[in-house]
Amino acid sequence: MNLPRHAYFGGRIVPYGEAKIGVLTHGLNYGTGVFAGIRGYWNDEEKELFVFRPRDHFRRFLESTKLLGMELTETEEALVNATLELVRTEGHREDCYIRPLAFYSDEAIGVRLHNLTPAISIVAFPYGQYLPNEEAVHATISSWRRVDDNMIPARGKIVGSYVNSALAKTDAQRAGFDEAIVLNADGHVCEGSAENFFLVRNGVVVTPPVTENILEGITRRTAIELLREGLGREVVERPIDRTEIYLAEEAFFSGTGVQVAAITRVAHRPIGTGAIGPITRDLRRLYFETVRGRRPEYRRWCHPVYAANRESARPESPAAVQGDRKLRVAG
Ligand SMILES: Cc1ncc(COP(=O)(O)O)c(C=O)c1O
Repeated sequence: MNLPRHAYFGGRIVPYGEAKIGVLTHGLNYGTGVFAGIRGYWNDEEKELFVFRPRDHFRRFLESTKLLGMELTETEEALVNATLELVRTEGHREDCYIRPLAFYSDEAIGVRLHNLTPAISIVAFPYGQYLPNEEAVHATISSWRRVDDNMIPARGKIVGSYVNSALAKTDAQRAGFDEAIVLNADGHVCEGSAENFFLVRNGVVVTPPVTENILEGITRRTAIELLREGLGREVVERPIDRTEIYLAEEAFFSGTGVQVAAITRVAHRPIGTGAIGPITRDLRRLYFETVRGRRPEYRRWCHPVYAANRESARPESPAAVQGDRKLRVAG
């Protein structure tokens, strides 16, 4: 990967080489940071780059900082604007990935969350696929269990807890699989190493609720809305037993990285026919049209980088945000 040319750091955009921290930094030593992962999608007909649901990502980002007791003055709006300015400065005209990070910046020894000073950085760089084949993922069930809300809050995107994801991912890949499915401490299906999980049984789409120690995924919420409203599918949020995976007609991951990726085999067992199923295929099609700004009804989620004064530059209207909140309460 080529390094970015710039970073948002210390409240302004600086050359990437100036965005440096010392080895004693608290967030580096103790994992006391939170992050986000946001995608920008290039739309070639409009010659526009759309950042997908940045407000929702930054809302979750700020919620994660709250879990670590960080006192920040930056608002959701200010972080979205900083991101758009950064991407404009980089001048990306292709799909890209944006990585905001908030971390305790003190160069100090001592495990704690109080009496520390948070800092924020954001970088953006060109990015393609996260998984090699999004239409045929071979996953395994990990022997690692997902962190619990009373261990490290799983609903936050907390730096330290990604050791849990990394353990699951590396074991899966070393064993020849593409991805891991991680269970809860109580044995229910939780999510992938860095993506949410869905399956289809008897035509109904099922995904674990937010109380099952999942990350409250933005793509998960997008998928639920697209399935219900765009594709007229029933979606149920309920705990999932491990063996339901083996009986599922379809299964897929959702996440900013994986987008919507079909799981076609789990631990060498075919899911359904062993090929991508119709619901996953329809959802993938609608998802990619949506994120590239080609669906007027979901255009509010797509923030244009270059046409800042266009009418669609003010997406996620209050009504839209409210609709979103309703969905969130539901799941
Ligand atoms: C553990 C975990 N679960 C789920 C997701 C998917 O979340 P989102 O759709 O917000 O990217 C991610 C990726 O950020 C993740 O790291």
